[in-house]
Amino acid sequence: MSIPSRVRLIDVGPRDGLQNEKQPVPAAIKIELVHRLQAAGLKEIEVTSYVSPKWVPQMADNHEVMVGLSRQSGVRYSVLTPNLKGFEAAVRDQPDEIVVFGAASEAFSQKNINCSIAESIERFAPVVEAARAAGIAVRGAMSCTVGCPYEGEIAPERVAYLAGLMRGIGVQRVDVADTIGVGTPRKVQAALEATLQHYGIDDVSGHFHDTYGQALSNTLAALELGVWNFQSSVAGLGGCPYAKGATGNVATEDVVYLLHGMGIETGIDLDALVDAGAYISEQLGRPSGSRVARALLAKRVG
Ligand code: HMG
Ligand code: MG
Repeated sequence: MSIPSRVRLIDVGPRDGLQNEKQPVPAAIKIELVHRLQAAGLKEIEVTSYVSPKWVPQMADNHEVMVGLSRQSGVRYSVLTPNLKGFEAAVRDQPDEIVVFGAASEAFSQKNINCSIAESIERFAPVVEAARAAGIAVRGAMSCTVGCPYEGEIAPERVAYLAGLMRGIGVQRVDVADTIGVGTPRKVQAALEATLQHYGIDDVSGHFHDTYGQALSNTLAALELGVWNFQSSVAGLGGCPYAKGATGNVATEDVVYLLHGMGIETGIDLDALVDAGAYISEQLGRPSGSRVARALLAKRVG
């Protein structure tokens, strides 16, 4: 398999990135971030989640954020919906895609969405059916495909099992997530290969958190398998509230730099992306988590 010549990035910063922020981030700032990401050329943006505000207070402004967007044609706006209640709220705000999110680990499923893997699939099934009937695309996020904060290492067979269940209920494409960033290239490849038993290469994406600094290596390992869809987070924002110590996704700026350096097309303007990352980092009052952004910003000053 040769390395893809084009990659599609989904920026999950507004959702995965900001969900973990302790202080409330005003909806206007989230909206501005989405606008800057689309201006930088992102064609897919994960905007928010329709989850319980008791569980994730930061996403309680989902409606305000979604209706406040000036949408750009050709951009896909996705949102997380864990159950029918979330879907019914989301559908009023017209997302292009909804995301159901399960885990390859039982313990993580319980901690994150308060039910077993089997129960989660039962809950997702009517959500997937309703979304598809409404012409809304459906993605499935699969957490802990390499390691789990509660169960340790996760075998590829468990990833294949979850991918099969997702496929069985009609989920159109899936994200192979290394939630706590413990993966290394061969392990991530094994999780991707397990998923490829049930999904074609165009419908599998990599979602790598960078907790152990492995996410770029894992991205390259995924590219070697032909995977060409990835999720990343501008300025490396984020972490999962139910995975202690997990840091953000790999920074979008870092992935774009890697890809452009390899001659792989993304359609993204790195300078504009760095501006978007600088904007949100300034709003949050801390330096960007992107090494590439920090290097390029330092050069601008110099
Ligand atoms: P539950 O407590 O089992 O739900 O939570 P329930 O059905 O028993 O309802 C309890 C209460 O929640 C009720 O309210 C419901 O109305 C309300 P009350 O009567 O107590 O006032 N409720 C809701 N409210 C708003 N929106 C909803 C909703 N559903 C129920 N959709 C639930 C189950 C899934 C809701 C809960 O566990 C939850 O919200 N979890 C959120 C988890 C989350 O957002 N995690 C982060 C995203 S996943 C992630 O980051 C991983 C990913 O990036 C990939 C990776 O890196 O691994 C995707
Ligand atoms: Mg994540």
